[in-house]
Amino acid sequence: MRTRNRIAPEGERTLLRLPRHFLTGSELSASELDQLLARAAELKSAPHSSQVLAGCSVALIFQRPSTRTRLSFEAGVAELGGHPMVLRTDEVQLSRGESVKDTAYVLSRHAAAIGIRTGPDELVSELAEHAGVPVINMLTAGHHPCQALADLLTMREAFGAVAGRRLAYVGDGNNVARSLAIVGGLAGLEVRVASPSGYELEPVAGAILTDDPREAVKDADAVYTDVWLSMNDDLATAQERRRALAPFRLDEQLLELAAPHAIALHCLPAHVGEEITAGVLYGPRQRIWDQAENRRHAQKALLELLIASA
Ligand code: CP
Ligand code: NVA
Repeated sequence: MRTRNRIAPEGERTLLRLPRHFLTGSELSASELDQLLARAAELKSAPHSSQVLAGCSVALIFQRPSTRTRLSFEAGVAELGGHPMVLRTDEVQLSRGESVKDTAYVLSRHAAAIGIRTGPDELVSELAEHAGVPVINMLTAGHHPCQALADLLTMREAFGAVAGRRLAYVGDGNNVARSLAIVGGLAGLEVRVASPSGYELEPVAGAILTDDPREAVKDADAVYTDVWLSMNDDLATAQERRRALAPFRLDEQLLELAAPHAIALHCLPAHVGEEITAGVLYGPRQRIWDQAENRRHAQKALLELLIASA
Protein backbone atom coordinates (compact mmCIF):
# COMPACT_ATOMS: atom_id res chain seq x y z
CA MET A 1 0.00 0.00 0.00
CA ARG A 2 1.33 3.42 -0.93
CA THR A 3 1.32 5.63 2.15
CA ARG A 4 2.36 9.06 3.29
CA ASN A 5 1.75 11.48 6.12
CA ARG A 6 1.90 14.71 4.12
CA ILE A 7 -1.27 16.31 5.39
CA ALA A 8 -0.28 15.70 9.00
CA PRO A 9 1.74 18.74 10.06
CA GLU A 10 5.05 18.06 11.76
CA GLY A 11 4.47 16.40 15.11
CA GLU A 12 1.51 14.31 14.00
CA ARG A 13 2.49 10.86 12.79
CA THR A 14 -0.75 9.79 11.16
CA LEU A 15 0.06 7.48 8.27
CA LEU A 16 -2.37 8.00 5.39
CA ARG A 17 -2.90 6.29 2.06
CA LEU A 18 -1.72 8.29 -0.93
CA PRO A 19 -4.76 9.81 -2.65
CA ARG A 20 -5.30 9.48 -6.38
CA HIS A 21 -5.57 12.74 -8.28
CA PHE A 22 -6.98 13.66 -11.70
CA LEU A 23 -4.94 16.58 -13.02
CA THR A 24 -4.35 15.81 -16.70
CA GLY A 25 -6.08 12.50 -17.33
CA SER A 26 -2.80 10.68 -17.80
CA GLU A 27 -3.19 9.37 -14.22
CA LEU A 28 -5.63 6.74 -15.53
CA SER A 29 -4.68 3.50 -17.21
CA ALA A 30 -6.39 2.62 -20.48
CA SER A 31 -8.47 -0.07 -18.79
CA GLU A 32 -9.48 2.26 -15.94
CA LEU A 33 -10.64 4.80 -18.51
CA ASP A 34 -12.62 2.14 -20.35
CA GLN A 35 -14.27 1.02 -17.09
CA LEU A 36 -14.93 4.63 -16.08
CA LEU A 37 -16.79 5.29 -19.34
CA ALA A 38 -18.81 2.10 -18.96
CA ARG A 39 -19.66 3.09 -15.38
CA ALA A 40 -20.64 6.60 -16.51
CA ALA A 41 -23.10 5.06 -18.97
CA GLU A 42 -24.57 2.94 -16.15
CA LEU A 43 -24.90 5.98 -13.89
CA LYS A 44 -26.57 7.90 -16.71
CA SER A 45 -29.28 5.26 -16.93
CA ALA A 46 -29.63 5.04 -13.12
CA PRO A 47 -28.56 8.45 -11.73
CA HIS A 48 -29.42 7.67 -8.09
CA SER A 49 -28.00 4.16 -7.98
CA SER A 50 -24.77 5.13 -6.19
CA GLN A 51 -24.49 6.75 -2.78
CA VAL A 52 -20.71 6.57 -2.63
CA LEU A 53 -20.48 10.09 -1.17
CA ALA A 54 -23.13 9.61 1.55
CA GLY A 55 -22.08 11.58 4.61
CA CYS A 56 -19.18 13.23 2.74
CA SER A 57 -18.53 16.74 1.46
CA VAL A 58 -16.68 17.70 -1.72
CA ALA A 59 -14.98 21.11 -1.97
CA LEU A 60 -15.36 22.79 -5.37
CA ILE A 61 -13.15 25.87 -5.74
CA PHE A 62 -13.92 28.19 -8.65
CA GLN A 63 -11.28 30.84 -9.31
CA ARG A 64 -12.68 31.23 -12.85
CA PRO A 65 -16.28 31.42 -14.14
CA SER A 66 -18.23 28.29 -14.98
CA THR A 67 -21.70 27.18 -15.98
CA ARG A 68 -21.41 23.49 -16.93
CA THR A 69 -18.64 22.47 -14.57
CA ARG A 70 -20.30 24.07 -11.56
CA LEU A 71 -23.72 22.63 -12.40
CA SER A 72 -22.50 19.15 -13.25
CA PHE A 73 -20.21 18.77 -10.23
CA GLU A 74 -22.70 20.27 -7.79
CA ALA A 75 -25.61 18.16 -9.07
CA GLY A 76 -23.39 15.08 -9.46
CA VAL A 77 -22.04 15.21 -5.89
CA ALA A 78 -25.62 15.59 -4.60
CA GLU A 79 -26.79 12.61 -6.68
CA LEU A 80 -23.99 10.53 -5.14
CA GLY A 81 -25.37 11.39 -1.69
CA GLY A 82 -22.68 13.97 -0.89
CA HIS A 83 -22.66 17.64 -0.01
CA PRO A 84 -21.00 19.98 -2.54
CA MET A 85 -19.21 22.98 -1.00
CA VAL A 86 -18.84 25.54 -3.78
CA LEU A 87 -16.19 28.16 -3.00
CA ARG A 88 -15.57 31.21 -5.16
CA THR A 89 -12.21 33.00 -5.19
CA ASP A 90 -13.21 35.72 -2.74
CA GLU A 91 -14.71 33.18 -0.32
CA VAL A 92 -11.45 31.44 0.56
CA GLN A 93 -8.39 32.82 2.33
CA LEU A 94 -6.24 31.66 -0.60
CA SER A 95 -7.25 35.00 -2.17
CA ARG A 96 -5.76 36.82 0.85
CA GLY A 97 -2.42 35.06 0.80
CA GLU A 98 -3.03 31.82 2.70
CA SER A 99 -0.67 29.29 1.16
CA VAL A 100 -1.76 26.52 -1.17
CA LYS A 101 -0.17 24.03 1.24
CA ASP A 102 -2.17 25.24 4.24
CA THR A 103 -5.33 25.37 2.12
CA ALA A 104 -4.72 21.75 1.09
CA TYR A 105 -4.21 20.69 4.73
CA VAL A 106 -7.45 22.31 5.87
CA LEU A 107 -9.61 21.24 2.93
CA SER A 108 -8.42 17.66 3.42
CA ARG A 109 -9.76 17.70 7.01
CA HIS A 110 -13.32 18.47 5.81
CA ALA A 111 -13.73 17.19 2.27
CA ALA A 112 -13.54 13.73 0.71
CA ALA A 113 -12.29 15.28 -2.54
CA ILE A 114 -11.31 18.70 -3.88
CA GLY A 115 -12.14 20.11 -7.32
CA ILE A 116 -10.44 23.29 -8.49
CA ARG A 117 -10.81 25.58 -11.51
CA THR A 118 -8.00 28.07 -11.80
CA GLY A 119 -5.29 29.38 -14.13
CA PRO A 120 -1.87 27.92 -13.37
CA ASP A 121 -1.43 24.16 -13.60
CA GLU A 122 1.32 24.54 -11.01
CA LEU A 123 -1.21 25.67 -8.40
CA VAL A 124 -3.25 22.51 -8.91
CA SER A 125 -0.12 20.34 -8.75
CA GLU A 126 0.89 22.02 -5.49
CA LEU A 127 -2.58 21.51 -4.04
CA ALA A 128 -2.40 17.82 -4.99
CA GLU A 129 1.10 17.54 -3.54
CA HIS A 130 -0.18 18.53 -0.11
CA ALA A 131 -3.76 17.22 -0.13
CA GLY A 132 -4.69 14.06 1.71
CA VAL A 133 -7.73 13.55 -0.54
CA PRO A 134 -8.14 13.33 -4.34
CA VAL A 135 -7.72 16.61 -6.26
CA ILE A 136 -9.60 17.05 -9.54
CA ASN A 137 -8.64 19.60 -12.20
CA MET A 138 -11.88 21.36 -13.18
CA LEU A 139 -9.98 23.42 -15.84
CA THR A 140 -6.63 25.15 -15.91
CA ALA A 141 -4.84 27.07 -18.64
CA GLY A 142 -3.23 23.81 -19.70
CA HIS A 143 -5.84 21.11 -19.22
CA HIS A 144 -9.55 20.30 -19.07
CA PRO A 145 -9.57 16.54 -18.49
CA CYS A 146 -13.11 16.33 -17.06
CA GLN A 147 -14.40 17.74 -20.33
CA ALA A 148 -12.53 15.06 -22.27
CA LEU A 149 -14.21 12.32 -20.20
CA ALA A 150 -17.65 13.68 -21.16
CA ASP A 151 -16.55 13.96 -24.79
CA LEU A 152 -15.48 10.32 -24.88
CA LEU A 153 -18.74 9.26 -23.24
CA THR A 154 -20.60 11.17 -25.97
CA MET A 155 -18.59 9.42 -28.71
CA ARG A 156 -19.16 6.08 -27.01
CA GLU A 157 -22.91 6.72 -27.14
CA ALA A 158 -22.69 7.56 -30.84
CA PHE A 159 -20.38 4.77 -31.96
CA GLY A 160 -20.15 2.11 -29.26
CA ALA A 161 -16.43 1.63 -28.69
CA VAL A 162 -14.28 4.71 -29.26
CA ALA A 163 -10.98 2.91 -29.96
CA GLY A 164 -10.00 3.29 -33.58
CA ARG A 165 -12.39 6.21 -34.20
CA ARG A 166 -11.07 9.48 -35.64
CA LEU A 167 -11.60 12.77 -33.84
CA ALA A 168 -10.68 16.01 -35.63
CA TYR A 169 -10.25 19.13 -33.49
CA VAL A 170 -10.09 22.41 -35.42
CA GLY A 171 -9.03 25.70 -33.82
CA ASP A 172 -6.88 26.93 -30.97
CA GLY A 173 -4.42 24.34 -29.63
CA ASN A 174 -5.64 25.02 -26.10
CA ASN A 175 -6.47 23.19 -22.86
CA VAL A 176 -9.41 21.34 -24.42
CA ALA A 177 -7.34 20.23 -27.42
CA ARG A 178 -4.56 19.04 -25.11
CA SER A 179 -6.92 17.03 -22.90
CA LEU A 180 -8.57 15.47 -25.95
CA ALA A 181 -5.14 14.43 -27.20
CA ILE A 182 -4.14 12.94 -23.84
CA VAL A 183 -7.39 11.28 -22.78
CA GLY A 184 -8.49 10.46 -26.33
CA GLY A 185 -5.10 8.90 -27.03
CA LEU A 186 -5.46 6.78 -23.89
CA ALA A 187 -8.83 5.55 -25.19
CA GLY A 188 -7.31 4.55 -28.54
CA LEU A 189 -8.81 7.43 -30.53
CA GLU A 190 -6.91 8.87 -33.48
CA VAL A 191 -6.84 12.55 -32.53
CA ARG A 192 -6.06 15.09 -35.26
CA VAL A 193 -5.57 18.73 -34.30
CA ALA A 194 -5.64 21.49 -36.94
CA SER A 195 -4.45 24.93 -35.80
CA PRO A 196 -2.88 27.96 -37.48
CA SER A 197 0.73 28.97 -36.95
CA GLY A 198 1.21 30.42 -33.49
CA TYR A 199 -1.75 28.54 -32.00
CA GLU A 200 -0.53 24.95 -32.43
CA LEU A 201 -0.71 22.26 -29.79
CA GLU A 202 2.71 20.89 -28.88
CA PRO A 203 3.27 17.24 -29.91
CA VAL A 204 1.31 15.30 -27.29
CA ALA A 205 0.19 11.72 -26.84
CA GLY A 206 0.49 10.74 -30.48
CA ALA A 207 -1.93 13.40 -31.76
CA ILE A 208 -1.60 14.19 -35.48
CA LEU A 209 -0.95 17.92 -35.91
CA THR A 210 -1.65 19.92 -39.07
CA ASP A 211 -2.36 23.49 -40.18
CA ASP A 212 -4.98 22.31 -42.68
CA PRO A 213 -8.50 22.00 -41.21
CA ARG A 214 -9.79 20.18 -44.30
CA GLU A 215 -7.08 17.54 -44.06
CA ALA A 216 -7.87 17.00 -40.36
CA VAL A 217 -11.61 16.70 -40.88
CA LYS A 218 -11.48 14.37 -43.90
CA ASP A 219 -13.36 11.15 -43.05
CA ALA A 220 -13.38 11.96 -39.31
CA ASP A 221 -16.02 10.36 -37.08
CA ALA A 222 -16.28 13.46 -34.87
CA VAL A 223 -15.38 17.08 -35.49
CA TYR A 224 -14.72 19.29 -32.48
CA THR A 225 -14.03 22.95 -31.90
CA ASP A 226 -13.66 25.33 -28.96
CA VAL A 227 -13.51 29.07 -28.34
CA TRP A 228 -10.71 31.14 -29.87
CA LEU A 229 -10.10 33.10 -26.68
CA SER A 230 -9.96 31.00 -23.52
CA MET A 231 -10.66 32.34 -20.03
CA ASN A 232 -6.97 32.22 -19.13
CA ASP A 233 -5.89 34.03 -22.34
CA ASP A 234 -5.04 37.72 -22.55
CA LEU A 235 -8.10 39.65 -23.75
CA ALA A 236 -5.78 41.93 -25.72
CA THR A 237 -5.07 39.04 -28.12
CA ALA A 238 -8.74 38.63 -29.10
CA GLN A 239 -8.59 40.54 -32.39
CA GLU A 240 -5.45 38.79 -33.59
CA ARG A 241 -6.90 35.42 -32.62
CA ARG A 242 -10.08 36.08 -34.62
CA ARG A 243 -8.01 36.89 -37.69
CA ALA A 244 -5.71 33.85 -37.41
CA LEU A 245 -8.40 31.34 -36.47
CA ALA A 246 -11.16 32.39 -38.91
CA PRO A 247 -10.17 29.73 -41.52
CA PHE A 248 -10.65 27.09 -38.81
CA ARG A 249 -14.34 27.89 -38.14
CA LEU A 250 -16.49 24.75 -37.90
CA ASP A 251 -19.20 25.37 -40.49
CA GLU A 252 -21.45 23.15 -42.58
CA GLN A 253 -18.97 23.02 -45.50
CA LEU A 254 -16.13 21.82 -43.29
CA LEU A 255 -18.35 19.27 -41.55
CA GLU A 256 -19.39 17.95 -44.97
CA LEU A 257 -15.82 16.64 -45.47
CA ALA A 258 -16.13 14.34 -42.46
CA ALA A 259 -17.58 10.82 -42.59
CA PRO A 260 -21.30 10.69 -43.49
CA HIS A 261 -22.13 9.60 -39.93
CA ALA A 262 -19.87 12.22 -38.30
CA ILE A 263 -20.99 14.10 -35.21
CA ALA A 264 -20.13 17.70 -34.24
CA LEU A 265 -18.83 18.48 -30.75
CA HIS A 266 -18.09 21.63 -28.74
CA CYS A 267 -17.35 21.87 -25.03
CA LEU A 268 -19.28 25.17 -24.72
CA PRO A 269 -19.65 28.08 -24.14
CA ALA A 270 -19.91 28.72 -27.91
CA HIS A 271 -19.40 31.94 -29.81
CA VAL A 272 -21.72 31.60 -32.79
CA GLY A 273 -20.19 33.08 -35.93
CA GLU A 274 -16.68 32.74 -34.54
CA GLU A 275 -15.46 29.15 -34.04
CA ILE A 276 -18.82 27.55 -34.96
CA THR A 277 -21.87 28.41 -37.04
CA ALA A 278 -25.44 28.28 -35.75
CA GLY A 279 -26.13 25.65 -38.44
CA VAL A 280 -23.66 23.25 -36.84
CA LEU A 281 -24.32 24.16 -33.20
CA TYR A 282 -28.06 23.53 -33.53
CA GLY A 283 -27.95 21.23 -36.56
CA PRO A 284 -28.73 17.54 -37.06
CA ARG A 285 -25.16 16.32 -36.49
CA GLN A 286 -24.50 18.03 -33.18
CA ARG A 287 -24.19 16.03 -29.95
CA ILE A 288 -23.18 19.18 -28.09
CA TRP A 289 -26.05 19.32 -25.63
CA ASP A 290 -25.53 15.64 -24.81
CA GLN A 291 -21.89 16.50 -24.16
CA ALA A 292 -22.97 19.16 -21.66
CA GLU A 293 -25.19 16.65 -19.85
CA ASN A 294 -22.52 13.95 -19.96
CA ARG A 295 -20.23 16.06 -17.81
CA ARG A 296 -22.30 15.01 -14.79
CA HIS A 297 -22.34 11.29 -15.54
CA ALA A 298 -18.64 11.09 -16.40
CA GLN A 299 -17.59 13.06 -13.32
CA LYS A 300 -19.72 10.89 -11.05
CA ALA A 301 -17.88 7.84 -12.37
CA LEU A 302 -14.60 9.68 -11.82
CA LEU A 303 -15.53 10.56 -8.23
CA GLU A 304 -16.45 6.93 -7.56
CA LEU A 305 -13.10 5.76 -8.90
CA LEU A 306 -11.04 8.31 -6.97
CA ILE A 307 -12.95 7.85 -3.70
CA ALA A 308 -12.66 4.08 -3.97
CA SER A 309 -8.90 4.43 -4.44
CA ALA A 310 -8.45 6.99 -1.64
N1 CP B 1 -17.30 23.21 -20.80
C1 CP B 1 -17.13 23.85 -19.62
O1 CP B 1 -16.24 23.56 -18.85
O2 CP B 1 -18.06 24.81 -19.39
P1 CP B 1 -18.03 25.84 -18.18
O3 CP B 1 -16.86 26.78 -18.42
O4 CP B 1 -19.35 26.56 -18.26
O5 CP B 1 -17.86 25.10 -16.90
N1 NVA C 1 -10.82 26.61 -23.72
C1 NVA C 1 -11.91 27.15 -22.95
C2 NVA C 1 -12.77 26.05 -22.44
C3 NVA C 1 -13.99 26.51 -21.70
C4 NVA C 1 -14.78 25.37 -21.12
C5 NVA C 1 -11.38 28.00 -21.82
O1 NVA C 1 -10.40 27.61 -21.20
O2 NVA C 1 -11.95 29.05 -21.57
